[in-house]
Amino acid sequence: MKHKILIINGPNLNLLGRREPEIYGRQTLDDIIGRLITKFPDAEISHFQSNHEGALIDKIHEVGFDESYAGIVLNAGAYTHTSLALADAIAGVSCKVVEVHLSNVFAREEIRHRSLIAPVCAGSISGFGPKSYELAIRALLPDQK
Ligand code: DQA
Repeated sequence: MKHKILIINGPNLNLLGRREPEIYGRQTLDDIIGRLITKFPDAEISHFQSNHEGALIDKIHEVGFDESYAGIVLNAGAYTHTSLALADAIAGVSCKVVEVHLSNVFAREEIRHRSLIAPVCAGSISGFGPKSYELAIRALLPDQK
């Protein structure tokens, strides 16, 4: 049986490839997701992106009690730094959630150093570009020999 993983991307991440490429690189979101699907043939990877806080919360509720999921990889974008509602959603479900960021948020403006979701996530990965998603998926999958 394949391990199900849901990747959730929050606001402005639909603009990847065009958005501040010096910070976020030139790969589009479709490039990133496509490469992850190729890289992890043993995982069943699905993807959801929204610019709306409530839609992200609804998606976490939808999948968050489904035991067929190994976990959720979440790049919450700027909601990372502001959304108590998103943190409550993560805390409220049983599914593991791994926080990811393309950029190293700790090397950026001070407001980005604070994550409201980090304390309720299984772990956080920041600063490795698209590889941050890969590392998060590896963290959720059973160990490879
Ligand atoms: C981000 C970092 C956030 O601070 C920012 O608001 C984003 C992207 C990242 O992937 O590096 O939208 O989550």
